[in-house]
Amino acid sequence: MADRNWGSLYSIGLLSWKSLIAILSLALTVFMLSWSLLLNTRGRSQFIDQNLFPHLKHHIPTSPIHHPPLISYEQQATLKVFMYDLPSEFHFELLYWKSDGYTPWPDLRSNVPEYPGGLNLQHSVAYWLTLDLLDSEFNNAGGGTAIRVHNSSEADVIFVPFFSSICFNRFSRLNPHQKTNKNKELQEKLVKYLTGQPEWQRSGGIDHVITAHHPNSLLVARMQLWPAMFILSDFGRYPPTIANINKDVIAPYKHIIKSYVNDSSGFDSRPILLFFQGAIYRKDGGFVRQEIFYLLKKEKDVHFAFGSVQKQGVPSATKGMQSSKFCLNIAGDTPSSNRLFDAIASHCVPVIISDDIELPFEDVLDYSEFCIFIRTSDALKDKFVMNFIRSISKDEWTQKWEKLKEVEHLFEYQYPSKKGDAVQMIWRSVAKKVPEIKRRLHTRRRFSRFEKPASQVFHCQETSLLDRRRN
Ligand SMILES: *[C@@H]1O[C@H](CO)[C@@H](O)[C@H](O)[C@H]1NC(C)=O
Ligand SMILES: *[C@@H]1O[C@H](CO)[C@@H](O)[C@H](O)[C@H]1NC(C)=O
Repeated sequence: MADRNWGSLYSIGLLSWKSLIAILSLALTVFMLSWSLLLNTRGRSQFIDQNLFPHLKHHIPTSPIHHPPLISYEQQATLKVFMYDLPSEFHFELLYWKSDGYTPWPDLRSNVPEYPGGLNLQHSVAYWLTLDLLDSEFNNAGGGTAIRVHNSSEADVIFVPFFSSICFNRFSRLNPHQKTNKNKELQEKLVKYLTGQPEWQRSGGIDHVITAHHPNSLLVARMQLWPAMFILSDFGRYPPTIANINKDVIAPYKHIIKSYVNDSSGFDSRPILLFFQGAIYRKDGGFVRQEIFYLLKKEKDVHFAFGSVQKQGVPSATKGMQSSKFCLNIAGDTPSSNRLFDAIASHCVPVIISDDIELPFEDVLDYSEFCIFIRTSDALKDKFVMNFIRSISKDEWTQKWEKLKEVEHLFEYQYPSKKGDAVQMIWRSVAKKVPEIKRRLHTRRRFSRFEKPASQVFHCQETSLLDRRRN
């Protein structure tokens, strides 16, 4: 009997010991969670900045009514970029430009090759970045965020001028007589070229920057070139070890709809409440779009324009977005789309229903000041979206409309680039990753004296490291 009592006492003790541990770890979790939440609030950067950089103190707003500027361009040293002289079949030849055989690059002072128009343009990021680097050589009046250097040892990053998106757009169709296509061939050629370069071998690719803005571009080579920094539209079609927000940069789409210059419209003069342009039936994650379409299609204040902007005609889409108060952005088969940037250019307040969307420049940009975010689970409730949008006052809308006009230039791709446009903001995002690149390079060097060709070893190490961090 006594034994049994002991036994039960013992198990009670064990039980309470277990629950004590459980309570303790719960408390610890709650503490850490609230701490990380605290660190993630908007006040955080000021809180940290105050302590780390006392000289910034006088920038802290003294009155609670004062709103800090939406974007602050801190003074930043110029980013030094080494660009490979890749053969022109990897870049401007894809735009039907022909090299004279002496240099793979066009002379921009006499000829700026044009990018193929239409929907191709939305992914033209690599083109604008390359133009900007070429331009920095003879147009160095200052103001540029990145300059091209010819000694790779002096560079912060190594840029790979492969126009992977237009390569996908033009050459991904399978030739019926061959097993492969030019898009695949060029990527294989690129991997061979890069891994043969001293710059790549020196760093294992860590300090390389590769643009793959179309979600399907670089499909083959990404699996081998992933130690590099990618410039992407989103992470939708990437495993997190291959691309993630720590290593890579999210760049805006180039908007297809023309900017609304001298917009004197207002809440009352935009007759359509909610505008949606796009395909309804999508593959993959597109079912949400279809569901929301069924919920909204009976609403008389909603305007649906089916198909792509190009099919509908840019003029009609432009008119639609410029005549609407709100523009709907629902995740399609990828979390991001050019519609968001078309909406911004039209000053039509974006309503974003896409839980996994990654937004460009979000480290300096608070999108909630000019967009409306709705969780997918809420959007799927009957009447939720319409009731919510109708509840937004004219004042609040007008504030967001003003902010849209303030930030739209951040999403402008242009040549030559201008201060704070998309091109320079992307270089700025790349520059912010340089300390992390340095850290990874130094880590890689720890045991370098014991290894001959380090690249293979590094590959495995870094993969397992990333896996460990995710688990
Ligand atoms: C490149 O830069 C490195 C580091 O500054 C320097 O040691 C080297 O001599 C330079 N190479 C050339 C060819 O100028
Ligand atoms: C916008 O307004 C400015 C100043 O009034 C004017 O110079 C410019 O031509 C206008 N642009 C357009 C496209 O209407």
